[in-house]
Amino acid sequence: MSDTANKNRAPIGIFDSGVGGLTVARHLYKLLPEEDVVYFGDVGRTPYGGRSKEIITRFTRQDIAFLLEHDVKLIICACNSASSVALDELVKEHTIKMLGVIQPGVEAAVKRTGNGRIGVIGTNATIGSNAYASRIHLIDPKIKVFSLACPLFVPLAEEGYIDKEATYLIARDYLKTMHEVGIDTLVLGCTHYPLLKQVISDVMGDKVALIDSGEETARVAHDTLIGTGLLRPSDGTESTGERRYFVSDVPEKFEHVARKFLGEPINKITRVDISGY
Ligand code: DGL
Repeated sequence: MSDTANKNRAPIGIFDSGVGGLTVARHLYKLLPEEDVVYFGDVGRTPYGGRSKEIITRFTRQDIAFLLEHDVKLIICACNSASSVALDELVKEHTIKMLGVIQPGVEAAVKRTGNGRIGVIGTNATIGSNAYASRIHLIDPKIKVFSLACPLFVPLAEEGYIDKEATYLIARDYLKTMHEVGIDTLVLGCTHYPLLKQVISDVMGDKVALIDSGEETARVAHDTLIGTGLLRPSDGTESTGERRYFVSDVPEKFEHVARKFLGEPINKITRVDISGY
């Protein structure tokens, strides 16, 4: 058997600072149900979004080292904060194909905007890095980008505050300026924000298109596997691939929140000591 034939049965590795990456996994499972997946959630050190570039890079390097131990064929960095500040540097340290969530979100937003005014919301790390804006400008320097950190959206999503009045109040306050600048496209540049899609959409109105970077990344992962010949060959049974979950702290809490993020219960959660990587 050739190397590619062996490799295409290997799992896809996906990681995030915690549970958030499951919103990306959810789309991946829809598009690539037969693929085996190894998910690592760094719940012991979450959130990444308020941390420095140095710390996020150190954590991300360890997350990648852990996935490489599982002989994955592709690594998806589902975390916007890690994709923004660490991935460019870490990609250079490995030969394996790695995807971040920024570029897919950028390309979808540029394609979608009609008036050339795009909003981007994310964690402090993502917004502070300017990763979305600079990549949008590489494609089209004339586009106006309005970036805004919305850190409270992360705990709201994790606590299940997805349709509460408190969430509407915070969203209205955060997004006031986005209204004023007349964007027609808003990038949800954080793993957690798709859970608040309804609230954000109600607040922004139906003239503003919401771009889910995670959904776009799942599409790119699908195309990448086809393009590289690494798509798992169908065995004709259409069975669902094996999905294994690893976390750096209490698996029970991960399981509880994961149901909301993935939309289904999960099993096979293993706790690992990430400090050893
Ligand atoms: N996963 C992070 C992101 O997409 C959000 C949570 C965190 O700050 O770690 O930026």
